[in-house]
Amino acid sequence: MSYLLLAGGRVVNSAGQIHADVLIKDEKIEAIGDFSAFTIDGLDRVDCSGRLLFPGGVDVHTHIDSPMMGTTTADDFESGTRAAACGGTTTVVDFAMQTPGDTLLTSLENHHLKAVGKAVIDYGFHMCITNLYKGATDEFADIMHSGVTSFKVFMAYRGTLMLNDGELFDVLRQSRHVGGQVCIHAENGDVIDRLAADLVAAKRTGPGSHEISRPPSTEVEAVERAIRISRIADAPIYFVHLSTEGAVEAVAAAQSAEWAVAGETCTHYLTLDRALYDQPGFEAAKVVLTPPLRSEEHRLALWRGLRTGTLSVVSSDHCPFCLAEKKRLGASDFRLIPNGGPGVEHRMSVIYGEGVSQNRITLEKFVDLTSTAPARQFGLFPKKGVIAPGSDADIVVFDPKARTVISAETQNQRMDYTPYEGWDLPGAIAAVYSRGDLIAAHGRYIGAAGRGKFVARATL
Ligand code: URP
Ligand code: ZN
Ligand code: ZN
Repeated sequence: MSYLLLAGGRVVNSAGQIHADVLIKDEKIEAIGDFSAFTIDGLDRVDCSGRLLFPGGVDVHTHIDSPMMGTTTADDFESGTRAAACGGTTTVVDFAMQTPGDTLLTSLENHHLKAVGKAVIDYGFHMCITNLYKGATDEFADIMHSGVTSFKVFMAYRGTLMLNDGELFDVLRQSRHVGGQVCIHAENGDVIDRLAADLVAAKRTGPGSHEISRPPSTEVEAVERAIRISRIADAPIYFVHLSTEGAVEAVAAAQSAEWAVAGETCTHYLTLDRALYDQPGFEAAKVVLTPPLRSEEHRLALWRGLRTGTLSVVSSDHCPFCLAEKKRLGASDFRLIPNGGPGVEHRMSVIYGEGVSQNRITLEKFVDLTSTAPARQFGLFPKKGVIAPGSDADIVVFDPKARTVISAETQNQRMDYTPYEGWDLPGAIAAVYSRGDLIAAHGRYIGAAGRGKFVARATL
């Protein structure tokens, strides 16, 4: 039996903060209180005075070692989860993509094989459905029983990833039947494909055209349609990576009608401006993400949506492709640039810096958005997402007086760029504990290899 005492820090949960010691026994939090007089053989006491203690980050939107647009994301489960750990995230829920020609269960099993023995933090999966073959929905119950309790569908990328409205309805209906939750990528794929084809016909083939081909209305329309379809199916839904004011309004309207509609946004939509698409050469490819970055009015609406609770989660949508790879595939046609960017390592630091330090959100709200709410939404709470007796001892020790400078040179993501290059942010992650193990300190991974465990999630 081993005891660890994180002494004298300020414990911040989504419900409030308290100056207290945190006593950890083996992998779990044993108690919170004043343990200054506590002694026991082998006690490891760590002075946390002047530090904030957050529950470990829960990032419910990552694409690790994932096939996408003719290539594979740059991080495997070793590099991706090490990067996550260094950035204060101790649990990811990653998208297990259905691979062409494979059943859902086979694809899921293959994704397990990619993670086991490599992941250094705990992980779960969403089942991503890209082809609703005959009998696919019959596998939902087995997928649920295996602890994968959410499904993702795409309303864009016809011919590769997209489901049509009838198929979306089938997924929603069967997911509801088995007690699951459907995560929706809401963009009108067919309209986008036509706008993109027009741009290419006009010889506007550079990366900046990505944004023009995906105007805000293509997201808003799809969000409104998906809400309608989910009502017919009477199924709960969760919108991934919302980027627009109109989408926030549509989700708010659905929620005020008491429909089970939840929404997330991502670090980059809150902090990066669409002007990055106006950069010369191929630079804009770094932010060829889907949906694209938006203008300030949308960012303000997203922050507002987070404060009011319309949006409940900030995820990274870590979907990393090196710039060299983006160029290899899409130098002559922006439609072929793999869509996505890195972010799992910097989500917590950027949201603290841009959210808490800029007085956009409180510390408690920061914890909620990055840890507690995603854990609740996806059946991980209270094992994850809170510093409380009985919960896993996943804890971030944060130094509010230090600073974090982001750079591609020093990052742990297996990437040749970061969209936050040179950002100098207030606060720094001093140490990260996962199930009681010290796994990262000052931006470097120091834990054991392959120690992460698959977490079977509960249904809602
Ligand atoms: O830019 C992104 N998000 N790439 C594709 C993965 C996704 O979530 O749609
Ligand atoms: Zn998506
Ligand atoms: Zn994604």
